Amino acid sequence: MAIVLKSGTLVTASETFQADILIEGEKIRMLGKNLEVPGAKVIDLPGRLVFPGGVDPHTHFALPMFGTVSSDDHYTGHKAAAFGGTTTVMDFVPHEPGQMSASLAVWHAKADPMAAVDFGFHINVQRMNEQVEADIARLPEEGVTSLKVFSAYNGRLRLDDGGIFRTLRLAKDHGLLVMMHAENGDVIEQLTAEAVAAGKTSPEWHARTRPAWGAVEAVLRGAALAAQASAPLYIVHMNAAGEVDLLDYARQRGVPVMGETCPQYLFFTEEHLRRPDGAKWICSPPMRTTADNQRLWQGLANGIIQTIGTDHCPFFFDGSKPIIYEGKPVAIPGKELGRDDFTKIPNGLPAVGDRLPILWTYGVRAGRLSANDFVALVSTNPAKIFGLYPQKGALLPGSDADIVVWDPERRIQYGVAHAQHRTDYNLFEGWELVGYPEKVFLRGQLIVENEQWLGKVGQGRFIKRKPGVQLL
Ligand code: URP
Ligand code: ZN
Ligand code: ZN
Repeated sequence: MAIVLKSGTLVTASETFQADILIEGEKIRMLGKNLEVPGAKVIDLPGRLVFPGGVDPHTHFALPMFGTVSSDDHYTGHKAAAFGGTTTVMDFVPHEPGQMSASLAVWHAKADPMAAVDFGFHINVQRMNEQVEADIARLPEEGVTSLKVFSAYNGRLRLDDGGIFRTLRLAKDHGLLVMMHAENGDVIEQLTAEAVAAGKTSPEWHARTRPAWGAVEAVLRGAALAAQASAPLYIVHMNAAGEVDLLDYARQRGVPVMGETCPQYLFFTEEHLRRPDGAKWICSPPMRTTADNQRLWQGLANGIIQTIGTDHCPFFFDGSKPIIYEGKPVAIPGKELGRDDFTKIPNGLPAVGDRLPILWTYGVRAGRLSANDFVALVSTNPAKIFGLYPQKGALLPGSDADIVVWDPERRIQYGVAHAQHRTDYNLFEGWELVGYPEKVFLRGQLIVENEQWLGKVGQGRFIKRKPGVQLL
């Protein structure tokens, strides 16, 4: 049955206006004033805002790490995303030994039957050789058009500069986008060994062994390699003021480099690692200082940084104690694995459902971002950069009817009771929010209403993307 969303205020990346939306099947068919459609179900939305569904360009569901696995799988994590107004997620596929197509098949086997929102894949480039070169050339056949390289995680994920340069050139030849994890792996190895030898193993040493300067020089290195390869580059999870400065430096010189940050780098600092429950904040790269938080906000407001993702990679704080999830007890080993040694604490944190609600209150309402910038950063820009636009990230005739109806007056005290991540903590516990998703549609289906789950496992669809990178 057709649906008319009536009298809402539409907020897009560029404008705010009153219009009705006609949804037919999976698509937005028409926008207009006073739409009258015989037989359509009418949903009145006075006083409500209407956004395109969020697009999270950076998630890690069911990711094996340090002998455990990130605690949201492709159902629970997608569901949490939907509760927070995100209807498309982009997940990273590890490149296991063998061909990339085999690794993608493994990830499809995990994700396809579980998916609850729409999704795409990026794949890690963890080594470089002729086989990998051939695999990269075939990625468009798989609908995968983005690759992640790492200048850290020595011996596991890191590529040397030659490998990154080769990846950039190949990606350019095939219309793919390279994403870079920018830290200095050699310095991290050295400092970590020294800290452990000196018995400095509390969570704060996770940050102290991964200095911001390593991230800053790696951003410049990435940009310089991109310039020399004439290839686009996207810096993931930007966390340090100097990274923003150097992204700006490179962009001003015409280097096709873009950037993403995440809520954790905007609101938290290294100080949080000193708390008794500091392990909750351990992720890589680490959080920095309030000056870094501020420079990242400036980078967003000035258009130096194009997207806000989450790097959602949750673990239980205490995985020996079950939580009740969908009525059943669940416990998954987590941060307690490194109780006495930060090097054994799984890296990552929950965020996929927090992103829109937290950024609305503490970004838009706090006067740091306009409502249109908010939509651009959490939905439209990631959709454009990753080849999903205008199917996703837009309120346009022909776009998928992925729509968030937002109640700008809804007040809640946020935390695990609202966030639907499958873990035992939330970094924003107790934060006061004004504005929250009221209804979430995925391709025309109402999947969340007033914090009730109406969706189902397997309803999410893999989005095959076409080569070609849009630079913002
Ligand atoms: O700590 C994090 N971010 N874990 C996920 C892996 C990564 O580098 O994004
Ligand atoms: Zn990373
Ligand atoms: Zn990540």
